[in-house]
Amino acid sequence: MQFTVAIDGPAAAGKGTISKRVAAEFGFAHLDTGLLYRAVGAKVLAGADPVEAAETLDPADLDNDSLRTHDVAQEASKVAVIPQVRAALVAFQHSFATRDGGAVLDGRDIGTVICPDAHVKLFVTASAECRAMRRHAELAGRGNDISYDQVLADVVARDKRDSERAEAPMVAADDAVLIDTSDMSIEQAVAAAVTAVRAGM
Ligand code: CDP
Repeated sequence: MQFTVAIDGPAAAGKGTISKRVAAEFGFAHLDTGLLYRAVGAKVLAGADPVEAAETLDPADLDNDSLRTHDVAQEASKVAVIPQVRAALVAFQHSFATRDGGAVLDGRDIGTVICPDAHVKLFVTASAECRAMRRHAELAGRGNDISYDQVLADVVARDKRDSERAEAPMVAADDAVLIDTSDMSIEQAVAAAVTAVRAGM
């Protein structure tokens, strides 16, 4: 059985949690496609060429806690602007999306570019302030003592870079279900997503 759920949206809107919970609910596999760009960004910070890093990316590179840092996120959104980097990551995402047993992919361009025929598309968003608050708490929980104002500035800068780039900009697909999590608990957001997926089955 093939069934693809595409979940897109800006930084720290809740895509990650929602995607994991939706995948668990339906027994689907989950791919956080942001990790692909983060892994390339991390290699670039270590001195690699971005296109070569993307072309030689190994799935084992994704399993690394250091990809969750703030600096890697910023670098990820810079390498994500490069068309050859994006092109190098398409095949892996396609094959994941069409695997047997169902797949949830979350990112920025899943419903628009990677899986335009996804069975269900969600666009998960929240106000920049809410997202910065959540990301700030998450980073603080990991021992990173960056200020809220810096996190907010970086979230806004990354949103701008992601939505204004020429190649595969972040935008809701016309047929995506919008979920604004600003005033929702995690449970409410997950419930809204699960309801939308069930409606598409
Ligand atoms: O976790 P968070 O939402 O902060 O970011 P992420 O999903 O890990 O993505 C990091 C960066 O990778 C984004 O800011 C985008 O620039 C890029 N990205 C992308 O261009 N396309 C995707 N499908 C996923 C991520």
